[in-house]
Amino acid sequence: MYIKIVTTVVFLSTVSMFGHDERILHYPNYQRYTSEDASKMISSSTGTLADVYAPLAEYIVSKCALSQVQGIGVDLGSGPGNLILELCDRTELHWINADINPCFFEHFYREAARRKLAHRISAIFADAHYLPFRDNYAKVIVSRGSYRFWANKERAFAEIYRVLRPGGMAFIGRGFPPNLSVDTAARIRSHQNFSYDVRKAGGELENIMKQLNIHDYEIIYPQPREQTTVNYGVWVFFRKAGETANSIPTQQEVSKGLFVTSRIP
Ligand SMILES: C[S@@+](CC[C@H](N)C(=O)[O-])C[C@H]1O[C@@H](n2cnc3c(N)ncnc32)[C@H](O)[C@@H]1O
Repeated sequence: MYIKIVTTVVFLSTVSMFGHDERILHYPNYQRYTSEDASKMISSSTGTLADVYAPLAEYIVSKCALSQVQGIGVDLGSGPGNLILELCDRTELHWINADINPCFFEHFYREAARRKLAHRISAIFADAHYLPFRDNYAKVIVSRGSYRFWANKERAFAEIYRVLRPGGMAFIGRGFPPNLSVDTAARIRSHQNFSYDVRKAGGELENIMKQLNIHDYEIIYPQPREQTTVNYGVWVFFRKAGETANSIPTQQEVSKGLFVTSRIP
């Protein structure tokens, strides 16, 4: 009886602190996010989607002016981590793969080692709605093709904002960068069996920025050089107010960040 009461009190106080949402995961659920899901995405990332990551990394580095930036970068829902490895090649940041499905991580670490980048990366289980990082931790947070799976997008974007350092930037969205050739974009789309309205998706992202009072943002509908009707997707770029000095994080600083000091209710 006593144990039952204590358990109920602990449960209720947790609910009131963080708001209870059954869809939010605090630890891995291997029934919901499986090794089969990971294998399928790994195949796409090395097959159909393989040509997307290098131009996307190039575009992000230029858009966020990352070439001289030091500190921590997070790729939220990085999955196989292809984007991170391309970003490692072009930046000095330490990159963290934060994904809800840890089944990706063995492949990710193996690929990083093969490309001699293992010392520049980390991986951690993370639900976008409940990020396992302290406030003001990351210089940049990127994410491709993941946000459409986030059940409560507003909450996830609030988490991203919380974790960004003052002056830090986020580049979140789906699809392609404008520097991907139209032929490649068209070939990839011909293999995909879903379609969506980019303007509607952009409107949703814009609403989230407004709801969260984020003023320094840009909705990007990538325009390749050639005229095309191929769907290039949509991205939101935003910046957290303030400034932070440039410094290479020590290994201790990387791991010190993995404690949360405040989370949204
Ligand atoms: C379509 S894949 C994209 C993978 C990678 N970003 C890429 O472009 O190759 C979507 C990824 O989002 C992850 N994901 C889905 N829901 C998530 C959540 N709530 N929090 C974090 N990651 C999530 C999935 O596990 C998967 O790795």
